[in-house]
Amino acid sequence: MIGVFDSGFGGLTILRGYLDKLPEYDYMYLGDNARMPYGNKSQDVIYGYTKEAVDFLFKKGCEIIIVACNTASAKALRKIQEDYLPKNYPEKRVLGVIIPVVEDTVKIKNIKCVGLISTRATIESGTYEVELKKLAPDIKIYKQACPLLVPLVEEGWVKRPETKKILKKYLRPLKDRNIDALILGCTHYPVLIKDIKQIMGKRVRVLDSPKIVAEKLVDYLKRHSEIEKRLKKNKSITFYTTDDEKRLKEVGEKFLGEKIDSVKKIEL
Ligand code: DGL
Repeated sequence: MIGVFDSGFGGLTILRGYLDKLPEYDYMYLGDNARMPYGNKSQDVIYGYTKEAVDFLFKKGCEIIIVACNTASAKALRKIQEDYLPKNYPEKRVLGVIIPVVEDTVKIKNIKCVGLISTRATIESGTYEVELKKLAPDIKIYKQACPLLVPLVEEGWVKRPETKKILKKYLRPLKDRNIDALILGCTHYPVLIKDIKQIMGKRVRVLDSPKIVAEKLVDYLKRHSEIEKRLKKNKSITFYTTDDEKRLKEVGEKFLGEKIDSVKKIEL
């Protein structure tokens, strides 16, 4: 099974990307809705939560886990990969969403200047910056935390004029910098991609994270047949949440763009 973990609903945008590209596999989704948002929490807390989620998904039989949450990818993933995994699950893998997007960003022709929008914790972690500079040391990065976007998307205010106004306010400083590309560094922002593209204009390439992350997993599984062989292919999807199962079903269907049959509530 492929496990997809997020602080809440947002990771369903990433799961959507996988279902489009790799529909044959079995998936298990875990949303830690009871403790979200992660975006304003400290590194220690985010690491502790991510570790618990990883334990849960591996114990349920996942062979590989994708940390779909940008905040957890930024603040906890490296430590999980370097310390926790080798000691506890040496055969299994945990991947994140930051490096795949960074790798695609630096491939854009003549790219000089990148914008990043995300939660505060992801901005503060500096992870995108560090990874971008590793591959393209001269690249310029302009960052903008957008803390209001997660609650607006979760409230379903996607097409409201108020949301567009707030988006414009957040994006204006990046537009003024004449960025060449924009990274959507948060699970929820792909839901707003149409408006973001429209505001940024044709010149700016807006990176479609769920699509990129899914393409990278296709590639990863080709290169790691020892893991691919262990994955079941029955097209089943199991959903877990740490909060109200009805709400994950209702709100989750909007993020996923398809029906969610059942959700189980668990405690981490
Ligand atoms: N999933 C988070 C992220 O991608 C956004 C929601 C949260 O703050 O928990 O950063």
